[in-house]
Amino acid sequence: MNPFERIANRYKNLPKIDLTQGHSIAYSRSTTRRNMELIDANSQGNVHGGVIMRMVDEAAAVVAIKHCHRPYVVTARVERFDFLAPAFIGDVVSVNCEMHNVGRTSMEVGVEVTAEDLITREVRKIASSYVIYVALDENRKPTPVPPLVPANDEETAIIERARIRRKHLQHLEEVLKGNL
Ligand SMILES: CC(C)(COP(=O)(O)OP(=O)(O)OC[C@H]1O[C@@H](n2cnc3c(N)ncnc32)[C@H](O)[C@@H]1OP(=O)(O)O)[C@@H](O)C(=O)NCCC(=O)NCCS
Repeated sequence: MNPFERIANRYKNLPKIDLTQGHSIAYSRSTTRRNMELIDANSQGNVHGGVIMRMVDEAAAVVAIKHCHRPYVVTARVERFDFLAPAFIGDVVSVNCEMHNVGRTSMEVGVEVTAEDLITREVRKIASSYVIYVALDENRKPTPVPPLVPANDEETAIIERARIRRKHLQHLEEVLKGNL
């Protein structure tokens, strides 16, 4: 059996999900770490931005998959991507991701990236992003996801901030389209 057949078989009968059962932010929070190597960097030893972006997409997708219990999620949008400081060969890059907002079929994951110098133990915040995923069903069509239910005041504040940001961005998009 080739790897593609194995993957297809593994998810042939997807478990039914209870869409009334919401999940907290903590439920799907996830961190991915990797040591930066020669192949990740340019000739000056700086890690390529694209390496960080790929790590972010992979790590944030883990959160989306954990939240919606679906093996198929696609990246619909990278809302913004800020590079705040460089990372270097030998740094351990950590991509910390958590669910910030959930629509009917879409999920916005907030991402903070840090780089740690293992010798000095200095940890620098090097990037941040918001990535939106859409859950797909067996026919690769958008499918509903469980709601995001805050577990405490801190989670309520995170979700509220994300909703305000989304509203402002939607307003801006309408203005730029000339609809407002
Ligand atoms: C993302 C995608 C599935 C949306 O399909 P669609 O037919 O436009 O779906 P819909 O109009 O029903 O929208 C579904 C959801 O996606 C959201 N969405 C669609 N495009 C979006 C975008 N560019 N940015 C943010 N959200 C988007 C919609 O707001 C909607 O959210 P909601 O259900 O929470 O309200 C489709 O555009 C696609 O397959 N894009 C390519 C994805 C891809 O290949 N990514 C890279 C590799 S993973």
